[in-house]
Amino acid sequence: MAVIKSENSQEWYFSSDQYILSETDDKGFIIYANDIFCEIAGYKIEKLLGQPHNIIRHPDMPRIAFKGLWDDIQSKGFWSGIVKNLRKDGGFYWVYATVLRKVHDDGSVTYLSVRRVPDKTAVTACIPLYAELKSQE
Ligand SMILES: Cc1cc2nc3c(=O)[nH]c(=O)nc-3n(C[C@H](O)[C@H](O)[C@H](O)COP(=O)(O)O)c2cc1C
Repeated sequence: MAVIKSENSQEWYFSSDQYILSETDDKGFIIYANDIFCEIAGYKIEKLLGQPHNIIRHPDMPRIAFKGLWDDIQSKGFWSGIVKNLRKDGGFYWVYATVLRKVHDDGSVTYLSVRRVPDKTAVTACIPLYAELKSQE
């Protein structure tokens, strides 16, 4: 098992040499996910392909974070941020994500996300910030 669960909470961890990858079509439907994505999110690959990426959206994440993501990948071509994701079993895991727009030779667009272990201090700072943003929704 490449991912581990905290002993006293629903938080899951992956290691700093692992990169969680996924790719979506231009509407945000998953067209690729690597093995570590499946393991940390708790899904078999067949259950992920064709699903909207919000399948792993955690209810603690403020809407404005994803508005920023979509605005930035469309206008600048990339976005980076700290995200709390939901596992299939109700657990969660934090990531530092970088999302990129990929324009193919035929003009079609897909989006790629590369996630690594987030800085602990950054996560600690995000928890009250996201709670505050969420309370304003
Ligand atoms: C390449 C890519 C990767 C994404 N990764 C995540 C992710 O890991 N977690 C997440 O909650 N949303 C992710 N999103 C954003 C979702 O598409 C979606 O906007 C978000 O979950 C909020 O859901 P909603 O738009 O239904 O409110 C990603 C989007 C793209 C294009």
